[in-house]
Amino acid sequence: MVRHATVALKRTGQQMPLVGFGLWKVTRATCADTVYNALKAGYRLLDGAGDYGNEKEAGEGLRRAIADGVVKREEVWVTSKLWNTFHKREHVHAVAKKQLGLWGIDYFDLFLVHFPIALEYVDPAHRYPPEWWGDDKKVHLAKVPLQETWQTMEELVDAGLAKNIGVSNCQGSILLDVLRYARYEPAVNQVELHPYLTQEPLIKLCKTLGIAITAYSSLGPQSYVELGGDKGAKNLLEHDIVLSVASKHGKTTAQVLLRWAVQQGLAVIPKSNNHERLLQNFEVDQFTLTEDEEKAISSLNINLRLNDPADIDPRIAIFA
Ligand SMILES: NC(=O)c1ccc[n+]([C@@H]2O[C@H](COP(=O)([O-])OP(=O)(O)OC[C@H]3O[C@@H](n4cnc5c(N)ncnc54)[C@H](OP(=O)(O)O)[C@@H]3O)[C@@H](O)[C@H]2O)c1
Repeated sequence: MVRHATVALKRTGQQMPLVGFGLWKVTRATCADTVYNALKAGYRLLDGAGDYGNEKEAGEGLRRAIADGVVKREEVWVTSKLWNTFHKREHVHAVAKKQLGLWGIDYFDLFLVHFPIALEYVDPAHRYPPEWWGDDKKVHLAKVPLQETWQTMEELVDAGLAKNIGVSNCQGSILLDVLRYARYEPAVNQVELHPYLTQEPLIKLCKTLGIAITAYSSLGPQSYVELGGDKGAKNLLEHDIVLSVASKHGKTTAQVLLRWAVQQGLAVIPKSNNHERLLQNFEVDQFTLTEDEEKAISSLNINLRLNDPADIDPRIAIFA
């Protein structure tokens, strides 16, 4: 079985797998089987979130794999995320416990603040996951400073509910601010990153600060096609440059895109509802891109951000 490289996280020194399985838009009805099969195929990191609405099913798949002896709990890295409506001190604890309950586990290996955006609380009994909008279909901002949220995330570590904590969708100025008050510095920043959005300055800053990066949407616009959100970008999986590198190595374009990230020391979390593609995405360790190939792929950068809250409401343009 393929054993992938890992990255050591600061503070705990724990080794986070560089290749994991992403759970956004993994169909709820098949999610338990998909997770089970991903673990059977060798994946050792599951990237979930309250917002994905499939934590219960993902947990079923994980627990079945544990019961069948496919994996032990301590061999699987479970990442989850705190949604925007739960940034207040009293809500962070409650929702983290709720999420752990859905998974059926007693700690997360990594818990991330999903976005540096605080929205008005929505009682999970009323709607879960709450998504971005209130009942009136409008976005309601909440006046919760990130400091309050982060310091409560730290309490989750003290309580043993999360081994590592981190952030997601954060740019330099937010990272620097968190570091001013952090008792436990963010171990990971999970961000959109692919050849159309190469983010070299952010990679450099995170490296300087010792914050590991997990790249999401590594395959570029593909994930957004079904949402009508690919912004008219040319499919990276069919891009001439990526195709030519793929054919030289006898690999698929998806494998080349994932390799391009992993080779930069970035963790990746490809998602697939299709078993063949799920298997394919895990096989990214047996080849190496040349420096010229890496550069040619990086030159595709057009600073195209597909996952931008500004598209939901201009008041939450966190990447402006
Ligand atoms: N922190 C955040 O705000 C945030 C935001 C977005 C994503 N994420 C995380 O990152 C993970 C990955 O990002 P993502 O789901 O947006 O995108 P992705 O993994 O880059 O791409 C997924 C899309 O590509 C297709 N696909 C997967 N493997 C393929 C292959 N080998 N060949 C061709 N097509 C393939 C999938 O379709 P099929 O399913 O049909 O194969 C799906 O449409 C998410 O699942 C989630 O865990 C986090």
